[in-house]
Amino acid sequence: VGAALNRHVALIGFMGAGKTTLGEQAAARLGRPFVDLDRELERETGEPIATLFRQSETDFRIREAKKTIETLEQRKPAVVALGGGAVTSESVRAALRAHAFTVLVDVDVDRAWERTRGGDRPLAQDELRFRALYTKRRPLYDETADARATDVDGVVLAAAAVHVESASFARLGDLTGAQPLALVADANLARLYGAAAREALGERLAARHQLPAGEEAKTLKVVEQLWRDLRLDRGGALVAFGGGCTIDAVGFAAATYLRGIDWYSVPTSLVAQVDAGIGGKTAIDLPEGKNLVGAFHWPRNTIVDPELLQTLPAPERREGLAEVVKTGLLAGEELWALDDAELVRRSAAFKAAVCLRDPHDRGERAILNLGHTFAHALEASAGYRGVTHGQAVGLGLLAALRLSGLDTAPVDEVLLPRPVRVDRDRAWEALQRDKKAANGRVRLVLLEAPGRPVYGVERPEEEVRAALDALIAG
Ligand SMILES: NC(=O)c1ccc[n+]([C@@H]2O[C@H](COP(=O)([O-])OP(=O)(O)OC[C@H]3O[C@@H](n4cnc5c(N)ncnc54)[C@H](O)[C@@H]3O)[C@@H](O)[C@H]2O)c1
Repeated sequence: VGAALNRHVALIGFMGAGKTTLGEQAAARLGRPFVDLDRELERETGEPIATLFRQSETDFRIREAKKTIETLEQRKPAVVALGGGAVTSESVRAALRAHAFTVLVDVDVDRAWERTRGGDRPLAQDELRFRALYTKRRPLYDETADARATDVDGVVLAAAAVHVESASFARLGDLTGAQPLALVADANLARLYGAAAREALGERLAARHQLPAGEEAKTLKVVEQLWRDLRLDRGGALVAFGGGCTIDAVGFAAATYLRGIDWYSVPTSLVAQVDAGIGGKTAIDLPEGKNLVGAFHWPRNTIVDPELLQTLPAPERREGLAEVVKTGLLAGEELWALDDAELVRRSAAFKAAVCLRDPHDRGERAILNLGHTFAHALEASAGYRGVTHGQAVGLGLLAALRLSGLDTAPVDEVLLPRPVRVDRDRAWEALQRDKKAANGRVRLVLLEAPGRPVYGVERPEEEVRAALDALIAG
């Protein structure tokens, strides 16, 4: 599971859908090689596709199928753009099922014709024939695709098995597999959406469980009770429905119950929709610290319905906005200025790409800690009271931008961070204890420019301490 974690991302679709352009962009985002099969065939034969096709369509199709299958059988996960007609071969479809996560690049027939008319494609010369072919191929594309997309964020999200769509909550039954499901919601979500969830899941709903709202869910006691209450066998799946705390606790329960069963992530808070719900990390807390016990366990599907945010209390929204600003700075785009549906989709896609590039957090996933070294220090020195995580992240981002020599306006204007009143020495100690400290040195995530993060950066101790001090009041 985890969609395309260890598999190719194959792009299929009609002529003019934009498979080559999207494939190039998606490969760059996922840090994978890009293979465009039309280009490969041209290179191999030294002839343009149009010429090969005119010489003999049958020979061309045989050659195309052979090359496509050979490419899909290569082990190293790539992004592969298939020729428009390649899926007409049953053996190509079988290879796609075996080796790839297949994304249909969706295009309507009018646009496809606009883009291809007047070119040299043999099948795009006559409009009536072009339209007839589109109608004929359409069911084949639908049947072969695991997901569909129209832009690069869509491809990345599909590859990460993240489905972002307004009102998708009502279709929860269609977006989860055909297996018995145990719905686990926090108390607030159960109250607000329990009936709607029951309706959406219908007969597949095998059981319902409730967790306390908030961080209390992420304790061994709560997870143990859940383990003991579960009646699913290994073929069943958990549905985690709530904010980041529910997602973390239920994901961890799914990773461990019966040595690991499937789960679906249905994040409902802004923090969870843009961050906690994505990337396959699950955890619970210990008295010694947060997130100290956990597992990597990618959900089968993450279903994100931005409309659920309508009931999210305003302070919780601000918590999420801090992560959106962080993501926007990392991406180099003003994601925070978008409407909810796009803000969630784009932020989620950014995180999904980073996690697909580094699923086990061994390298560049560290960039997601931008501002968090300072934030953790402030939270810890405050004893996790009087300053929320979001407020601390706002301050941490301020410090990261200052140390990067960059304009702090986006953070100032969107998050309005206010210095906190904590003990300066305790905060400094906490910062040095942070898990990112290696050999007693603090390693930071900074930005060369918005959109160009660097991690593992060391700065002179005085500079780091001065940046921390500037976040503290009094
Ligand atoms: N696993 C990861 O990669 C990851 C990443 C970031 C954060 N996290 C974890 O996420 C947790 C924080 O998540 P959170 O901020 O979502 O906290 P949360 O789960 O406690 O949710 C915040 C509050 O909002 C309520 N709520 C959520 N969605 C709602 C909705 N649609 N309508 C009404 N109320 C709603 C919840 O009931 C809760 O009271 C932390 O424990 C953090 O460690 C994990």
